[in-house]
Amino acid sequence: MAEQGPRMTPASTTVGAATRPADFYEGVADLYDAPSHEAFYRGLAHELVALLPSDAAVRTILEVGAGTGFGTHVLRERFPSAAITAVEPSAAMIAHAVDRVPDVEYLQQSLADVSADGSFDLVACFVAEHWLEAGEPERLVELSRGGLLALSAPIAPPRPLATGNQLLRDAVFKTRAAGRWTHDRRREPVPRGALSTRSGSVQRDAVVGECYPDAPALARALYERGSLMAVAGDGAREVERVLASRTDATDVDFTWAFRLFVADDRP
Ligand SMILES: C[S@@+](CC[C@H](N)C(=O)[O-])C[C@H]1O[C@@H](n2cnc3c(N)ncnc32)[C@H](O)[C@@H]1O
Repeated sequence: MAEQGPRMTPASTTVGAATRPADFYEGVADLYDAPSHEAFYRGLAHELVALLPSDAAVRTILEVGAGTGFGTHVLRERFPSAAITAVEPSAAMIAHAVDRVPDVEYLQQSLADVSADGSFDLVACFVAEHWLEAGEPERLVELSRGGLLALSAPIAPPRPLATGNQLLRDAVFKTRAAGRWTHDRRREPVPRGALSTRSGSVQRDAVVGECYPDAPALARALYERGSLMAVAGDGAREVERVLASRTDATDVDFTWAFRLFVADDRP
């Protein structure tokens, strides 16, 4: 029987301008929930969860930015009887997550709206830290006080850039698009700000290589995962179009890089 986590007070979802991440993911949820994306995000989630201490007694889990439940699934496999609360602002993403991992309390809200009167044994955030708003990293720290915090976040890919990364850089440059994940931000140390104050931490970088048959296939994948939204904001569709127009490129390599971070605040 799973134990109850801290008491949660659901708040209403805030839906703002078109560029808000939740609005973006609301529009691509069905495309995001594809087998190729699942294999990619599941692999990453496995790598992060493998960094958790093997003796961890985890009864309550908060997952932040659960998406369609790829990481939630990995958490459920590793902690079969834990009470999992998953926060995700997009209703369309949650609809897929509910099908994938039903025995979870899903809250359709952003981390900022989460009200909890305690902390969790484990707070997990798979590839969503770069979407957090001001003040939300501090919430991650608070909600994992006395417990474990596990997060993965994109970092700048290694140099020299793979062909696909160069094509993406060229397309962003050509369109002059700018998103939240700016050139400068890519170079900031991760974990950022409040998250870096956690001691007892382990971190590791994961580099994942993929090969796409052509530039349109790469452009589609980057759009569906939200990567173009991250680097180009409202210009995501335009960058996708410019990138996809590079029909001269075949067998396009693309390199992803992520920092995996686990902080242990257990007594
Ligand atoms: C790249 S997806 C990752 C989804 C999932 N963790 C996975 O590994 O597949 C990022 C997710 O973060 C969510 N998100 C964006 N801003 C958020 C916020 N402020 N609080 C919580 N989740 C947020 C998005 O709606 C999206 O579903």
